[in-house]
Amino acid sequence: MTGNRKDEHVRLATTQHSPQGPAPSGASPGHSQFDEVRFLHHALAGTDRAKVSLRTGFAGLEWPVPLYINAMTGGSEKTGEINRDLAIAARETGLPIATGSMSPYLKDPSTAGTFTPVRREHPDGFVMANINATATAEEARRAVGLIEADALQIHLNTVQETVMPEGDRSFGHWPAGIERIVAAVDVPVIVKEVGFGLSGRTVEHLAALGVRAADVAGRGGTNFARIENGRRERADYAYLEEWGLSTPASLLDAHGRGLPLLASGGVRHPLDAARALALGAHAVGASGGFLTVLLDGGVDALVRRITLWLDQLTALMTMLGAHSPAALADCDVLVTGSLRAFCQDRGLSTGAAKGDTA
Ligand code: FNR
Repeated sequence: MTGNRKDEHVRLATTQHSPQGPAPSGASPGHSQFDEVRFLHHALAGTDRAKVSLRTGFAGLEWPVPLYINAMTGGSEKTGEINRDLAIAARETGLPIATGSMSPYLKDPSTAGTFTPVRREHPDGFVMANINATATAEEARRAVGLIEADALQIHLNTVQETVMPEGDRSFGHWPAGIERIVAAVDVPVIVKEVGFGLSGRTVEHLAALGVRAADVAGRGGTNFARIENGRRERADYAYLEEWGLSTPASLLDAHGRGLPLLASGGVRHPLDAARALALGAHAVGASGGFLTVLLDGGVDALVRRITLWLDQLTALMTMLGAHSPAALADCDVLVTGSLRAFCQDRGLSTGAAKGDTA
């Protein structure tokens, strides 16, 4: 049952990212609030490529690159193979990687082999386990232990659960659950959304619960309201498909609210990655787009895509004169259009995120 759901998620997510599919944002084709974040061009700002490093750090962690493969899957035979191939691509490119939710393993230990390839194929890499906020302390430790995870992601997905026919309907105990999990595991806990964004208020709450970093996972890419609607007999929650904060809006709202931020959700290309870093993120995650490349073209195609992204991100940083991902936050950035209106409504500065307060 869970295995089927995981296979359906993969199928429905990739239709959103294929060139023929609907616009991933659910908005007009091609529109993204990332396009409302513009670097001010300074023609003499450039530096030398040899001086640019992609290394990044947050919450006491050091990553070789500011790009990671974000949580997706596991639990069925097919998704186990996907996890294996994603991990090979991560190993070949040096990217950190997260497994999908390990709930299937926690319910049925016989599915362990659909998650363990992530560690087996990426033995020296940075690997993150993924659970939901209802997991017990013991389950959290089992998830981390199975793949010798370097960090634990907890996903928050009230919108997805609401639209999911068989979804959870009680969320009130999540903050206490997160606090218990944080106390139970000996790796840093990163809390993420699944595509609806984290507000500044949520990030402040997470900081108070002992969480070490927040991945905003905003609107604009994979749309789980649409995926779960696609699994209903009648798509009667269609009006929720526009719900949530876009990734740039989340970054602006949550910056300086007590936690280092990671950015994911609708990152389409290296310029979006640079924009997210300029808005204060320490690293940028991608899921549905990378999955689609993998399923369309195999591991080699995904390795080529990631290598291209790292190469072009370095090129953009060279052009902008940013010697490190963190230095992108010192670039002059213009926030325009609906994102500017959002900042005005929320009383947020539209200037670049200067440094990190967390
Ligand atoms: C996801 N995502 C996800 N997130 C999570 O925390 N646990 C999970 O099990 C899953 N499962 C999952 C399956 C599939 C097929 C996709 C594409 C995505 C959400 C993911 O980590 C990310 O937050 C969003 O997909 C937004 O990023 P993209 O896809 O727009 O790059």
